[in-house]
Amino acid sequence: MAQERERLTAGLSADTLSVWAGEGESLVQGATQVPVVYSAAYGYPDVDAWLDVALGRTPGHVYSRNTNPTVQAFEEKVRALEGAAAATSFATGMAAVSDTLFALLSPGERVLSVKDTYGGTNRLFLDFLPRMGIEVELCETTDHEQLEAAIAAGCAVVYLETPTNPTLKVLDIARLAAAGRAAGATVVVDNTFATPLNQSPLALGADLVLHSATKFLGGHADVLGGVVCGDPELVGRIYHYREITGAALDPMAAYLLIRSMKTLHLRVERQNANALRIAEWLETQPAVSVVNYPGLASHPQHEVAARQMRGFGGVLSFGLEGGFEAVKRVLPRLRLAHRAANLGAVETVAGPPATTSHVECTPEERAAMGIPEGLIRYSVGIEDAGDLIADLAQALEVA
Ligand SMILES: Cc1ncc(COP(=O)(O)O)c(C=O)c1O
Repeated sequence: MAQERERLTAGLSADTLSVWAGEGESLVQGATQVPVVYSAAYGYPDVDAWLDVALGRTPGHVYSRNTNPTVQAFEEKVRALEGAAAATSFATGMAAVSDTLFALLSPGERVLSVKDTYGGTNRLFLDFLPRMGIEVELCETTDHEQLEAAIAAGCAVVYLETPTNPTLKVLDIARLAAAGRAAGATVVVDNTFATPLNQSPLALGADLVLHSATKFLGGHADVLGGVVCGDPELVGRIYHYREITGAALDPMAAYLLIRSMKTLHLRVERQNANALRIAEWLETQPAVSVVNYPGLASHPQHEVAARQMRGFGGVLSFGLEGGFEAVKRVLPRLRLAHRAANLGAVETVAGPPATTSHVECTPEERAAMGIPEGLIRYSVGIEDAGDLIADLAQALEVA
């Protein structure tokens, strides 16, 4: 079956895979769309046939906490786009992150990551993994020499996220994956911000790539999900952890994700273009102290981003000279942005880290991470860039 999948998708561009990958296997009675299969279990009158499926000797499904046809079609679409050999999915992005870390790490082992991971991931590193006897070292995010030295000192997992949330720092995936490999570590990359269309961590040497599918893959701010892709043996271990601990993706959520991903390439192309134009405009605004966007020539890691990304993504952040008080004045004035804790949607979404990515942290913890209280994360939608700039311009009048 894997060979048949490869034959059907070989040589196709990412744009075509967004539309067609994963669609074929579960179609029923001439339907052109993947069905939402709501069945907790799957029946087999023939016990030998049942046993063959249960033991993985023949393809099929036994119980929907393990596998489900709709969910499998979603996994197949992301797998094809990431150029991975295997994929498995989760109820949320955080389930993907935590199940991956808990499946790969044992007490006494060490995981190495950076200070700027998503707030929920950061809490796993600070609170939950140490409680399980797992040693965590979080390095300065863009200090690649320090990261390489810490990796070479020995670790079981290197966990990277790039670009980071919400400061849009960029890590050199190929360089750190090489260091991880040399140390015998499993290298995991959270590719949520970039999407599979803008960045391919596996091709750059990572072992696993994961997403909060809630963001760009879902794209419409109406569904939660997560997915991990990569080496089949590693994905198998994570799948086993998830099937036992139970954070399975719901079939309806999988269906919504499949439907959304058919337009992923169109949305991402527009969001890349809109974000770059808005970032360039924000840089010219006197009320704005800093603009964080990897596509800007002024971005400290622009050269790395240009090497490893095909587009720079739909999220940027900018600081206001007036600090948090200015944020509180500006945000309510925006007419074309939801003030909400989400990103990657067709509508523009804006918010400060204190209520979005780093709501779990204290102001002191945010300051230690280099996240100023006057920062606004701005996830650019697919609207007209001119309209968004006009909206920002009128809002910034009160900054
Ligand atoms: C980079 C990144 N990874 C993981 C997550 C967690 O995803 P979810 O909210 O779907 O659990 C988020 C959520 O904002 C995120 O931004």
